[in-house]
Amino acid sequence: MTKIIAPSLLSADFANLQKDIEMINNSEADWFHIDVMDGVFVPNISFGMPVIKAIKKHAKKPLDVHLMIVNPDRYITDFKKVGADILTVHFEACTHLHRTIQVIKSEGMKAGVSINPHTPVSVLEHVIADLDLVLIMSVNPGFGGQSFIESTYNKVEQLKKLIVDNNSNALIEVDGGVTDVNIQQLSKIGVDAFVAGNFVFSSENPTKTIAGLKSRAKNI
Ligand code: DX5
Ligand code: ZN
Repeated sequence: MTKIIAPSLLSADFANLQKDIEMINNSEADWFHIDVMDGVFVPNISFGMPVIKAIKKHAKKPLDVHLMIVNPDRYITDFKKVGADILTVHFEACTHLHRTIQVIKSEGMKAGVSINPHTPVSVLEHVIADLDLVLIMSVNPGFGGQSFIESTYNKVEQLKKLIVDNNSNALIEVDGGVTDVNIQQLSKIGVDAFVAGNFVFSSENPTKTIAGLKSRAKNI
């Protein structure tokens, strides 16, 4: 099973985005992780459509777009237009989650659902078979550079079981506080995709850091 590294541009240098995009293009990273925050669902505002459109022009790898916004249904078509390949909404932000997932897929994107640290994986029981990806938040969403919440390991194991029991093809992605200390164990218990922001961009050599994460994730 291939292991996916998705550096989060939230920790990139916004005044030099193209440079960081080229770094990811030329690295062993697999996806661009794009965090969209609205200041309502989470206590922070990041960036929106024009920035994603600009990223898409230079990115040579899929855009993994993580929506931390209320009522994401209003913007699904717009995110497709600006280049999202994978679109992940929060369980906590969707009243009609089943419908939202179908709309994302009908737009030709992969559909993901994210759950906050306090949300049990069991809430996904009736949609798991339809999902391409489940994003487990391993920090409270809103900011980069927070510490990994240890109970995530348990949740990953529960999610893996839910996926197997329902013959789902959903990938498991973990987001928040991922480092070279926890990536191997997470990979071992079934995580397929790893978001890393601060750990990559605050390092001296981000390209090398990505390669290190990739080899640790593979080497299980
Ligand atoms: C947090 C975002 C994350 C964040 C992860 O709300 O969803 O994608 O960028 O950053 P690190 O790896 O710094 O915890
Ligand atoms: Zn994210």
